[in-house]
Amino acid sequence: MTMTRTLGIIGSGMIGGTVARLAADAGLDVVLSNSRGPQTLTDLVTDLGPRARAASVTETARTADLIVAAVPLSAIGQLPADALAGRTVVDATNYYAQRDGRIAALDTGDLTSSAYVQQRLEASRVVKALNNVFFRHLLDLARPAGAPDRSALPVAADDPGAKSEVIALLDTLGYDAVDLGTLADSRPVQPGSALQALPYMPPLPEGLGEQEIQQWIFQAPAVPAPAHRIRELLATAAP
Ligand SMILES: NC(=O)c1ccc[n+]([C@@H]2O[C@H](COP(=O)([O-])OP(=O)(O)OC[C@H]3O[C@@H](n4cnc5c(N)ncnc54)[C@H](OP(=O)(O)O)[C@@H]3O)[C@@H](O)[C@H]2O)c1
Repeated sequence: MTMTRTLGIIGSGMIGGTVARLAADAGLDVVLSNSRGPQTLTDLVTDLGPRARAASVTETARTADLIVAAVPLSAIGQLPADALAGRTVVDATNYYAQRDGRIAALDTGDLTSSAYVQQRLEASRVVKALNNVFFRHLLDLARPAGAPDRSALPVAADDPGAKSEVIALLDTLGYDAVDLGTLADSRPVQPGSALQALPYMPPLPEGLGEQEIQQWIFQAPAVPAPAHRIRELLATAAP
């Protein structure tokens, strides 16, 4: 298994920027990109320090050892599949029909969203991870290996080698991992499912509307969720 030394981030917003922060703090080199071009990432790169630089999406795909795709799901089809061929790509996206447009195969439940991403990035090794935690909680809950309050993040992939690479990356970023199985097994991390966002915050107050839930999550403190807690929740999740 190759250890990640240079992490590529495609999509450098809330979640991509947070992964970049954890990676740079952990001593990885980080290459960031977005849709508007590297010149728009100057402030973020300065903030991240000397291990970070910005590049085009294609250069990021070509130069990094491992790539995190932290873009809206609707942008997956615009990513350079050729430059990403043969690479391990962490799919940190979520499907929200109101944001991404309706995708029939996902609405019917025929495909998980990560299997959909794998179809679009056919020649890449897609690993589902980093999509199920609110970005502020991801930043707050990172802990060194062995810390008693270290949290775990779920991981799913069809390629075992790529999965191991990403489990090692999560460890470097400050997290244990819980193996969900293949991309087809990744439903429990999708929006509205047992492992999406809620494990890492206090119980959601009852009776909130959809918008109030979003507002509540934005101010909610982070709560550690160790591997045994994630496995417990997984056992209660619908298949
Ligand atoms: N926010 C969270 O807490 C969170 C947590 C887990 C997973 N997620 C998922 O992660 C994804 C990103 O969410 P976010 O909240 O980080 O969104 P965001 O803050 O809006 O950032 C999206 C990023 O994607 C880039 N992007 C959009 N289209 C692109 C394209 N065609 N090529 C390259 N880059 C492109 C944007 O670049 P420009 O600004 O230049 O357009 C921006 O840097 C979503 O699928 C979301 O569901 C979010």
